Amino acid sequence: VAKSIAVIAGDGIGTEVVPAAMRCIDAALAPEGHVLHWHELDWSSARYHREGAMMPADGIEQLDRHDAIFLGAVGDPSIPDVETLWGLLIPIRRRFDQYVNLRPVRMLDGVPSPLGPDARCDIVIVRENSEGEYSELGGRFGDGDDAFAVQNDVFTRRGVRRIARYAYELARSRRRDLTSATKSNGIIHTMPFWDENVTDVGRDFPDVASRSVLIDALAADIVRKPGSFDVIVASNLFGDILSDLAAAVAGSIGIAPSANVDPSRMHPSMFEPVHGSAPDIAGRGIANPVAQIWSGVLMLEHLGLSSAAHRLMQAVEDTVREGVLTPDLGGDAGTADVADAVVARLAPASH
Ligand SMILES: NC(=O)c1ccc[n+]([C@@H]2O[C@H](COP(=O)([O-])OP(=O)(O)OC[C@H]3O[C@@H](n4cnc5c(N)ncnc54)[C@H](O)[C@@H]3O)[C@@H](O)[C@H]2O)c1
Repeated sequence: VAKSIAVIAGDGIGTEVVPAAMRCIDAALAPEGHVLHWHELDWSSARYHREGAMMPADGIEQLDRHDAIFLGAVGDPSIPDVETLWGLLIPIRRRFDQYVNLRPVRMLDGVPSPLGPDARCDIVIVRENSEGEYSELGGRFGDGDDAFAVQNDVFTRRGVRRIARYAYELARSRRRDLTSATKSNGIIHTMPFWDENVTDVGRDFPDVASRSVLIDALAADIVRKPGSFDVIVASNLFGDILSDLAAAVAGSIGIAPSANVDPSRMHPSMFEPVHGSAPDIAGRGIANPVAQIWSGVLMLEHLGLSSAAHRLMQAVEDTVREGVLTPDLGGDAGTADVADAVVARLAPASH
C-alpha cells in the first residue's frame, strides 16, 4: 500500500515531534512493504508573518488530494491564537467535516500518574468537532462600561445524533459502556437538546450501558475513579477540557494523541497531538514525541495499516516501560532519543 500524507509540522515543538514521529512511522511500515509519501507543507506562524496567512488560499483544495493530514501544532506568542486556530485548524476540521475528534487516554506502564502507581484508565473521549460552543455566531457590542460580548452555541439535531451514533458504535466495539457529558441543569436550551438526542440514539444500542453525567461531577470522577470510564461522548468545549484533564491524569499532555475523523471518508482525516506548540520548551529538543507518534498510530489504523499500527504502539509502550522518558515524564531523554529507541525496537533483528 502507498498512501499520500500531507504533513503540517506547524510551530514550536510541532517542528520537533513531527519529524521524530515520521521516522518511527516509516520504521513501522518498512518491514511490511508499505510506504507513506510525505508531502511537507510549511504552513505555520512563520508563513503568516511572511505572507499574511497561515495557509495558501487554496490550502483546503491542496489537502483534499491526500489520504490523511499529519499535523504537529500551531500557535506562536507573536500572533493572536484566534488567527492561528481559525486560519488553519478550524477551517480544516470544518471544511472536511471531521466531525469526530477521537482522544484515547490510556495509562502506559512506566508513565507516572499523579494519581499514584495503582491508577488505571483506558478511556476514549469522543468530542464533537464541528459545531457546539466553538461558533462564529455572536459579536461584541456597545462601548466603555456598556460593552458586552455575545457568543452563541449551535447544536443541530444532525450534529448531535451523528456524534452520539459514532460514540455508541465505538463503545460497542470496546467495553460497551458510554458516558455522555452534559450540563442540562445550567445550560437550559442546548444541553437538554443534546441529552434528548443522545438518549434517542441510544435506543438503537440496548447492549451498551449508558448514562448522562453533569460535566462538573464528571470532571471530578475522572480524577477520583478514571478506571470506571470506557467511552465518553461530549460537546466540542466539554470534550476539549475533559481530554486535557484525562491526559493529565494519565501522566502528561505530552503523550495524548487525537484524530479528527471524517467517518464518511469523503475527505482526509487529520491526526495531531492534543498538546499545542509549547513555546516554553520549543527549540530545546526535549519535547515528548509520544503524543505525535501515537497520533501516527491512529492514522495508520485509519488507513487500514493496522498491523504496523499495532507494532508501532507496542514499540512506544516498550520504550516508555523501559524508562526512555522525556523531562515531562521525569526522565532526561531528548525527543530524538525517544524516537531512536522506538525505531530500534521496530528494526528487523540484525544478525
Ligand atoms: N492543535 C493545536 O495546534 C493546538 C492545541 C493547543 C494549543 N495550541 C497553541 O499552542 C500554543 C501554546 O499553548 P499552551 O501553552 O496553552 O499549550 P501547550 O499544549 O502547547 O503547552 C502546555 C504545557 O504542556 C507542556 N507540553 C505540551 N506538549 C508537550 C510535549 N510534547 N512534551 C513536553 N511538554 C509538553 C508545555 O511545555 C506547557 O508547559 C498556543 O498558541 C495555543 O493556541 C495549539
